Amino acid sequence: MLKPVFILLLGFMLATPMAANAMNIKDYHKKVMTDTNGKVDCAACHGDEKRKTVPDATRCSSCHGAPQDVAKQTQRPADAGHSVEPNPHDSLHYGTDLPCTYCHQEHKESKVYCNQCHEFTYPQMKR
Ligand code: HEC
Ligand code: HEC
Ligand code: HEC
Ligand code: HEC
Repeated sequence: MLKPVFILLLGFMLATPMAANAMNIKDYHKKVMTDTNGKVDCAACHGDEKRKTVPDATRCSSCHGAPQDVAKQTQRPADAGHSVEPNPHDSLHYGTDLPCTYCHQEHKESKVYCNQCHEFTYPQMKR
């Protein structure tokens, strides 16, 4: 008769939020966001907020530059035609206005927002 108790306990453990430093961060951010003791600098993206939610895009821009500058990095040559995917950072519908975190996730796999409606591939995107 112990079994149900174990199942309950397991369920509880799975539902418990991960300890602060167990939040996964991307490999590309580890070097800049981790101190010598391996502790992640949550404030780099979340500021001083106690209750962490989706960071504001201005946090990303403090290191990566304004959205317009990011867009320049992924601009295609004008003569490349339709064989390449459109610039995700400067699109027909939204210009440069989409928040970074619509596509670049930090603690889970990144996804391309456009692909709710399109099928763009972007093989170079680090997920
Ligand atoms: C403290 C500075 C800093 C902050 C804040 C920061 N980044 Fe980064 N990010 C870096 C550095 C440094 C790299 C690695 C070098 C590079 O590729 O630019 C990087 C890499 C990346 C890459 C991979 C680039 C590639 O080569 O494909 C993406 C995507 C990215 N950051 C998005 C974000 C987003 C979105 C945010 C906000 C939630 C953010 N970053 C906040 C410094 C920062
Ligand atoms: C609509 C989805 C989307 C949004 C919004 C978005 N990105 Fe990206 N980002 C991508 C994709 C897709 C790539 C890969 C593009 C490629 O190389 O084909 C990328 C690549 C990058 C890179 C690597 C550029 C390089 O030199 O290869 C950086 C850095 C980056 N994004 C940062 C940001 C930041 C900062 C923001 C917010 C200002 C942002 N992104 C908003 C989809 C997005
Ligand atoms: C490089 C930027 C970055 C760093 C560093 C970072 N976060 Fe986040 N955090 C994000 C982004 C972006 C989101 C939005 C959801 C996602 O992308 O996973 C988020 C969301 C969250 C959430 C809300 C839960 C969710 O998934 O929506 C919590 C809680 C959180 N972060 C905690 C932390 C803690 C604790 C640390 C330090 C150990 C940390 N974060 C470090 C970018 C960051
Ligand atoms: C909510 C659905 C939706 C989202 C999200 C969306 N699009 Fe679109 N997009 C459309 C529709 C609908 C059209 C019109 C299709 C047509 O007339 O051929 C379109 C047309 C386009 C076109 C011109 C036609 C083509 O396929 O070449 C481009 C380029 C484009 N979108 C890029 C993007 C990019 C980049 C993103 C992400 C930053 C994005 N879209 C996000 C629905 C969407």
